[in-house]
Amino acid sequence: MVNNKFPDNFLWGGATAAYQCEGAWDEDGKGFAITDLLTAGTRRNPRKLTLEVDPGVYYPAKKGIDHYHRYKEDIKLFAEMGFKVYRMSVSWARIYPNGDDEKPNQKGLDFYRDVFKECHKYGIEPLVSIMHHDTPVALAIKQDGWLSKKTIDAYVKYAKTLFTEYKGLVRYWITFNEINMTMNYFGDVYGAGILSNGTRIIDINNVSDDAMSKEKQNKRFAALHNQFLASALAVKAGHEIDPNNQIGCMIASDAHYPYSCNPVNILAAQNSMRKLWYCGDVQVRGEYSYFTKRYLEEKGVTLNVTEEDKKILKEGKVDFYSLSYYTSGTDCLDQEVDTDSGNFNLGAANPYLKKSDWGWAFDPDGLRWVLNEIYGRYNVPIFIAENGLGAIDEVSDDGKIHDDYRIHYLREHTKAMKQAIDDGVDLFGYTWWGPIDLVSASTGEMKKRYGFIYVDLDNEGKGTLQRVRKDSFYYYKKLIETNGSCVFEED
Ligand code: BG6
Repeated sequence: MVNNKFPDNFLWGGATAAYQCEGAWDEDGKGFAITDLLTAGTRRNPRKLTLEVDPGVYYPAKKGIDHYHRYKEDIKLFAEMGFKVYRMSVSWARIYPNGDDEKPNQKGLDFYRDVFKECHKYGIEPLVSIMHHDTPVALAIKQDGWLSKKTIDAYVKYAKTLFTEYKGLVRYWITFNEINMTMNYFGDVYGAGILSNGTRIIDINNVSDDAMSKEKQNKRFAALHNQFLASALAVKAGHEIDPNNQIGCMIASDAHYPYSCNPVNILAAQNSMRKLWYCGDVQVRGEYSYFTKRYLEEKGVTLNVTEEDKKILKEGKVDFYSLSYYTSGTDCLDQEVDTDSGNFNLGAANPYLKKSDWGWAFDPDGLRWVLNEIYGRYNVPIFIAENGLGAIDEVSDDGKIHDDYRIHYLREHTKAMKQAIDDGVDLFGYTWWGPIDLVSASTGEMKKRYGFIYVDLDNEGKGTLQRVRKDSFYYYKKLIETNGSCVFEED
């Protein structure tokens, strides 16, 4: 019998990442992460990454939203909304400043211990991403980041440190955030170590696979393979250190549709979905899928996968599949159409869907569709680790933020989740991306706001940092209180 309630114990909450909110980039012994060296940009003007810090330039990770110093206030606000779970990431460079130091930085360990304890004080379960984009700079310079097998060793040591230190405080883990992003421009910046050349501009308007050199493609896929190995070794170690640990993958899982029923578009969309399956198959099933040989050949990529690697992947399968879902894209090969589908390259714009301020299509049905596709393929529990709306918020004359567009987005995606659960999908939790405004990953802006909590800070890092509850804050509180059912009452 279908009802309006979500399953008992459904984990409602929100998600952040260290470099997008903590700030304190050089405090208490923290080393530099790649993400600390990204300048701010806009949708049309890409962020830049330079190895030299320019004192005249604002780097958004420098300040974040000052969560490092205000985490108690922020977690208290999360608790007020009724969070059951807080997804956050640990900054590797806070624990091992150079990525591979002999001993961990005690102050870094203490900081996260305090954060986890603060969560538990309110009955909030921490869900921890071990790596969310922020490879320590030292590893990128010294050994070309994820192109080196030595980075796998460093990561596994770091992961074991976390599992050991926080045993009993944390039991839900994600090894790598959106690991499939290593296939695109994120791979250059956050993973592949294409930094030895010094300066690189992240060109978000030129990320198509065709535009890339074979050399770059080879680096991205080699780096991704090393991340798979690191993830599998961490999963194995995490289970050995504490059998209660539940460890997941995290894959950006935006839906891809054919633009029309022309079979060429159907095949193209199938190929786009392989960006998800490529990673999910390795991390959930423990092996590369049948299609990867041709998929890589067509990109001019030669991948070295040894027998030992295959064994490692088999032994390090994840317990659950987590995903981010924001939007959908379409594939169109047979006609010229509008390709403005946001700052990620999701192909042709879908004429049936409305877009956000940043061009991302609003598509809750796509969430139901993709959850069914994932569950049908893997049959493991699923967790929505990110979903949300980046929008321009205005503070009204009454001092409040009336973000009915965000409430609408949340309501419709919650309905879609419920539909998927009623379809039979084993979905056990949901964390809204950026429950408090934070720095945008793709553009580095503060102006692109996701939060239920407004933070008084602008793109240049100016503002009081004061936290203000938006209308959506009260809506999410009610949604959690009613275990999801209020989204149906308002129909
Ligand atoms: C995901 C990332 O890609 O999307 C987050 O895991 C990111 O780090 C989020 O912030 C939203 O993207 P953006 O570019 O709007 O911040």
